[in-house]
Amino acid sequence: MSIEFLQTYLPLYFQGAGYTVALSFFSVILGVLLGSGLAIAKMSSSKWLSIPAHAYIQVVRGTPLMVQLFIVYYGLYVLNVDLPDFASGVITISLNSAAYIAEIIRAGIQAVDKGQMEAARSIGMNQNLAMRKIIYPQALKNILPALGNEFITLMKESSIVSVIGMQDMMFKAKVVAGATFMPFTPYIIAAIFYFILTTIFTKLLEIYERRLKQSD
Ligand code: ARG
Repeated sequence: MSIEFLQTYLPLYFQGAGYTVALSFFSVILGVLLGSGLAIAKMSSSKWLSIPAHAYIQVVRGTPLMVQLFIVYYGLYVLNVDLPDFASGVITISLNSAAYIAEIIRAGIQAVDKGQMEAARSIGMNQNLAMRKIIYPQALKNILPALGNEFITLMKESSIVSVIGMQDMMFKAKVVAGATFMPFTPYIIAAIFYFILTTIFTKLLEIYERRLKQSD
């Protein structure tokens, strides 16, 4: 590995890193929107909501992300829906992530001590008000750090999109391997880039969690 090698190929890794972060970021945002709906549906007392939500979560968590990616990518093609690659990536990963996020949200809400609801009701709040003013704010403290972890997971898991040619970091590593006939080094560099990304975001998350704890 020489200076010329780095000069030529590092920009590719930076592009790939940008793609990976953007893909994970938009997927986690969409995943939160969808996942919140799923979590509420799953906890609902109506079977019409809770059963489909439960089934969706089971199926998505019970099948590989790679298979889901192929189904969405080629499914959209069969349906004649022409989307940019990035958009099909975001759709697949957010549909997947939503199932995991739904469980994060449900667990976060259910982890709030029962006594909180009882106390709120006993001072005259109705169920809705108690949820909004007492339960959700406390649940948020359980949920936010776990969502940060989900984002970090997605940065790694999203490397699967490279198999259908999306330009993420793993794909760029394959391009470099192909262009240089180096079978090994390009992937070590990709690993280093992934590691730097996950370390940065893990550290940021730790700082944020410490701040959340301060208000306890
Ligand atoms: N490798 C896992 C699978 O194929 C990906 C799971 C995605 N995980 C997540 N927290 N969104 O099923």
